[in-house]
Amino acid sequence: MPLTRLEIQNFRLLQKAVVEPGEKLNVITGWNAAGKTTFLEAMHVLATGRSFRTRRWAELIRHGADNLVVHGSVVEGGQEHRVGLAFDGRGRTIRIDGSAMKGTAVLARHVPLLAITPELHFEFLRSSRHRRGLLDWWLFHVEPDFYPQWLRYQRLLGQRNAALRRPSPPSVQFLWDEDLASVGEEIDRSRQNFFRLLREEFLQTAAALLQRGTVSLRFLRGWEDNEPLLAQLQRTRTSDQRRGFTQSGPHLADLHLALDTDGIRTQLSHGQQKILVIALRLAQLRLFMAKTGRRCVLLADDIGAELDRIHRQRVCDVLEALETQIFLTAIEAQDFSPRSAGLRMFHVEQSYIKPVSPLPVTPKKSDPLDVEMLK
Ligand SMILES: Nc1ncnc2c1ncn2[C@@H]1O[C@H](COP(=O)(O)OP(=O)(O)O)[C@@H](O)[C@H]1O
Ligand SMILES: [Mg+2]
Repeated sequence: MPLTRLEIQNFRLLQKAVVEPGEKLNVITGWNAAGKTTFLEAMHVLATGRSFRTRRWAELIRHGADNLVVHGSVVEGGQEHRVGLAFDGRGRTIRIDGSAMKGTAVLARHVPLLAITPELHFEFLRSSRHRRGLLDWWLFHVEPDFYPQWLRYQRLLGQRNAALRRPSPPSVQFLWDEDLASVGEEIDRSRQNFFRLLREEFLQTAAALLQRGTVSLRFLRGWEDNEPLLAQLQRTRTSDQRRGFTQSGPHLADLHLALDTDGIRTQLSHGQQKILVIALRLAQLRLFMAKTGRRCVLLADDIGAELDRIHRQRVCDVLEALETQIFLTAIEAQDFSPRSAGLRMFHVEQSYIKPVSPLPVTPKKSDPLDVEMLK
């Protein structure tokens, strides 16, 4: 389902940009502050209904303009769909094939998209919400029952937490426990099933990218492993009442990532964090494509930052081998030496995006530095 055309109006510094991307790798070059990240951000907004840089929508409207518009065409199964989003300073409008739609989930269904941004590893290491999101994104796209269940769980949890904070009788406070536990167990089963696939795919990808150390990935479901959720909810009622929120359940699930080098737990450097989080993203993306047979747009912003030349090239090689549509930013075309033909290049300058001819392809050869630097 590649994006075949994109039109962006009044999105940050981009006044008007019309881009016809290629089906595979698209490289966007430009100097600092030219608008490369903005271009990816506009696609992210179109596909997810939110920016990866800010929650404040007003920030996204070009200074001096009243509204922003991003729309694009996606092709799936030989059929073209038009997907659009506008924001006028007060509210958002979403349109699919000309019809107004509610909620942003419909955008994600039409344009499955994953992003690797320079902040991704910080977000991932800082927040369990981001780590859970990695599992839930996949389940949202692959398991039709997951999202309705997830919404139901959130509603029940909200009701329980609100009742815990009010002086209400236990018959009211714990009215939802059975439903909450049963939906919670379902969510957990789905996550555990996906986690098994993810773990295997991730370990392979991480090993190929890092080539040193032993990586481990664990899933923590949000309550004791050997206790049914209902039993734990009942056991911790007094403490939940005291704290005013529910302390067990899949809303607290988490992923735990570690690297051991020579048998010693390693404090991850920024570069290693970045590589491991990229490996997780790539595992998520590959499993999405394998399970659904669909493609996924991958945004890779400034992927080379904090990576040495060898690791950067390795990540780029993996990206180039993916059979999906990728948008990758770089300061200069030289920062990225393409190994395959069929890539499309764009240059951003003075808030315009124009196609440029790609650099000649460099034949793939093993790098003599590989061995010395990584052993
Ligand atoms: N709402 C806005 N209107 C106009 N310009 C903006 C707006 N928001 C950000 N900018 C400008 O966009 C530029 C940043 O663009 P960005 O996409 O981050 O550049 P790059 O990724 O190429 O380094 C900055 O110069 C910033 O001042
Ligand atoms: Mg940038």
